[in-house]
Amino acid sequence: MTALPPSNAVAVIGAGTMGAGIVQVAATAGHTVYLFDTSSEAVDKGIAQIEKFLARSVAKGRMDDEARIAILGRIKRCNKLEDLAPAKLVIEAIVENIDIKRSVFGQLEDILSEDAILASNTSSISITEIAAKLKRPERVVGMHFFNPAPIMKLVEIIRGLVTDEQVAEIAYTTAQAWGKKVVHAKSTPGFIVNRVARPFYSEALRILQEGGADIPTIDSCIRESGGFRMGPFELMDLIGNDINFSVTKSVYDAYFQEPRYRPNLIQQEQVAAGRYGRKSGQGYYDYSEGAIKPEAHTADAAPAPTEITVIGNNTLLAPLIGLAEAADIKVNNDPADDLSGFMIEGTLVLLSDGTPASELTTVLEKPIVVFDLALDYKAASRIALAKGDQVSDKDLAKAVGFFQALGKKVSVIDDCPGLIVMRIIAMLANEGSDAVYQGVTSPEGVDIAMTCGVNYPKGPMRWAQDIGLSHIFAVLDALSSFYGEDRYRTSPLLRRAVIAGKDLV
Ligand code: NAI
Repeated sequence: MTALPPSNAVAVIGAGTMGAGIVQVAATAGHTVYLFDTSSEAVDKGIAQIEKFLARSVAKGRMDDEARIAILGRIKRCNKLEDLAPAKLVIEAIVENIDIKRSVFGQLEDILSEDAILASNTSSISITEIAAKLKRPERVVGMHFFNPAPIMKLVEIIRGLVTDEQVAEIAYTTAQAWGKKVVHAKSTPGFIVNRVARPFYSEALRILQEGGADIPTIDSCIRESGGFRMGPFELMDLIGNDINFSVTKSVYDAYFQEPRYRPNLIQQEQVAAGRYGRKSGQGYYDYSEGAIKPEAHTADAAPAPTEITVIGNNTLLAPLIGLAEAADIKVNNDPADDLSGFMIEGTLVLLSDGTPASELTTVLEKPIVVFDLALDYKAASRIALAKGDQVSDKDLAKAVGFFQALGKKVSVIDDCPGLIVMRIIAMLANEGSDAVYQGVTSPEGVDIAMTCGVNYPKGPMRWAQDIGLSHIFAVLDALSSFYGEDRYRTSPLLRRAVIAGKDLV
């Protein structure tokens, strides 16, 4: 199915944050774009936003002035909905209210030609429901852009129950022709990104709630070990805790109180206190002038070991072995063991498989320290460790000294199952697997959505594959047995892949 040619006009309804960005994207791709908003001030503001963006692009040499003038010339202000009649594709980006959206789409059906596509940029309303009472529900599709639309690469194309396949395909190829990374998704609450991302926040909140680690330590580990641009609390403060809490509640309710999406009391308290984040000057962090950002827990210097034994043959740990050799630590090998980690002077330092260090210490009858996952063990500047409750500080210091000798800062956290990065990645991969299992999208769709929609350093499906699906399975199983909660049940897709020895991506 070919994309809508630039000679076909596009219309955008709503000139707010998203609408203005979408107008810019479509006009830059060569379409004449009709823009309508009930507020003429909103149109003024939206067009001023586009002008500012384009002027900056010219100043930075990304665009010549001729192109800037041509793009602005293609944007047509409209005073009434009837003026949108020539458009072959209308993208609605108005207030998030089902009744208002339905009414606008109903009016549009009488104004536009029968073959026009009616797209909604909604982030939380069912496309099926928006389309339900229209004359041509099959012409309705979701085109979910991300903020800021001219910069964020992702567009989710959402198919409602009766969306025509060809309509979804035209929307897909058109967004692609506009330079976007595009994924298909079935109309389900949260679509892909707003669903799969839930554990990024909810598991961080859970770790905090249980005293596993403090806010700056969780954020620092996610950034410095996990390779994410921002930690969960930093990101919630940026999004706004009120918005994040309301998205969490809406996804939770839309899935009929699915425990995986349950909001956290900590969020509720933040919102109740008016601690919305950056915009209110206080959230999980203090943004007032002169406020000092609290630091992550970082362990004091401990002596480096002279000799270690590598346990097992997990290739994930190869960069750590290279760093140990470079640090002049003698490296012995015990590849036959099915554990993954290091023996350091009688203390076993193991890659977390979700089992708490206390439990491992009892089962293996050795002092155990577990360490967290890193996106790239060579590049990671910080590693989280946890010791068993029965393990001495002296034994812990052996693990601390080892990672410090490899150039890492060490955060010692409480013995919470899966630590921080491993737990969050396992839960993201589990959520992605469930979305695939329920036919929302493909494994590749999950990865494109999360890397292009929210800038994850690696797609959770690919990441799980690289860690080893059986390892991810073990982490989830350990979480499930530790908490005994439905929230940590393994996705059937992941379970089947592990049993069959198959890949997910
Ligand atoms: P906004 O509040 O910035 O803009 C909405 C605009 O729609 C306003 O200018 C308002 O005057 C106009 N409007 C309201 N009712 C109208 C009507 N009946 N006819 C014409 N214009 C009308 O909102 P924003 O943030 O741009 O969101 C718009 C849509 O995009 C919502 O459905 C939202 O869920 C979705 N969305 C928002 C994202 C975000 O980060 N802000 C991201 C992705 C989707």
